[in-house]
Amino acid sequence: MTDKPRVWISRPTFPGIIARLEPHFEVTAEAEERKFSASELAARLAGQDAAIVGLKDRIGPAEIGQATRLRIVANLGVGYDNLDLDALSAAGIAASNTADVLNESVADYAWALMLGAARRMNAAERWLRAGHWHATEFRQWLGTDVRGHTLGILGMGRIGQAIARRAVGFGMPVIYHNRSPLSEADERACNARYVDKSQLLRESDFLILVLPLTPQTRHAIGAPELAQMKPTAMLVNVARGGIVDDAALATALREKRLAGAALDVFEREPAVHPGLLELDNVVLSPHIASASQETRRAMTALAVDNVLALFGHGPHAGRPPTILNPNVLA
Ligand code: 8YV
Repeated sequence: MTDKPRVWISRPTFPGIIARLEPHFEVTAEAEERKFSASELAARLAGQDAAIVGLKDRIGPAEIGQATRLRIVANLGVGYDNLDLDALSAAGIAASNTADVLNESVADYAWALMLGAARRMNAAERWLRAGHWHATEFRQWLGTDVRGHTLGILGMGRIGQAIARRAVGFGMPVIYHNRSPLSEADERACNARYVDKSQLLRESDFLILVLPLTPQTRHAIGAPELAQMKPTAMLVNVARGGIVDDAALATALREKRLAGAALDVFEREPAVHPGLLELDNVVLSPHIASASQETRRAMTALAVDNVLALFGHGPHAGRPPTILNPNVLA
């Protein structure tokens, strides 16, 4: 045992990460990726001074009850619905996320999903791999162009704006809804027009969801909202499962009240609603919108920056760069 503070990393990590922490911390990194129960998390956090965790790790009062030394929980994600921020703040524990470093990767992936759904790429590939391609038929596998169609964005934070900026090259007008409209300058920069939620639902040909999951946004897209969308529209979710009512979405897709969907996130990950798995007009992916080599490394490096900074090390000493509850530093 040394007298260095201790940091726990809840999953296997990239080379070089432990080496950055080791001069200052006694590091414990899990060797396998797994989901911990509340009591396993509580046992692991007890005795740690810092923790680097991910979305699978739900951290609230029960998990930090014995963690009397814990000073920071650094989350490997921009979304932090897995953290009970009030409980952490009340215990004087800092929390940080990985804001900004993933904006462009997630925006790229939202476009990949949208284009994939529009042009039916995954369904066509499944058909080809199944050995069905015997002749090329001119009118087969017709998708829809995105050009000239309206892109709607629900949640216009920095990822939403990065998605909107890409629309210029694809010739799509952009409308958006957000708790508050962007400044005029920001609207101009991403060529987007503010509308109310119901207009967004009614006018979008492609609707991309990029809002955080909170008690207020749970099932923001359920049966009543899906009923307002055009039957030719497609829905893309790169935000969080739980924002969409997956059962209602499966029904709308099956009944062709909505033309298609592309989903990276689900209500009960890693389980996917069986009604969605049956359908050919939905693209499914396993929560990988930020999963590029560059971005997952940058997210991990930022989590480490936050931990180091809280303990007075590195270029941000004393000021964790993406702290969520700066009041605990006062
Ligand atoms: C996850 C995400 O972090 O940033 C978020 O909020 O959902 C993703 O980037 C990633 O899937 C690791 O769990």
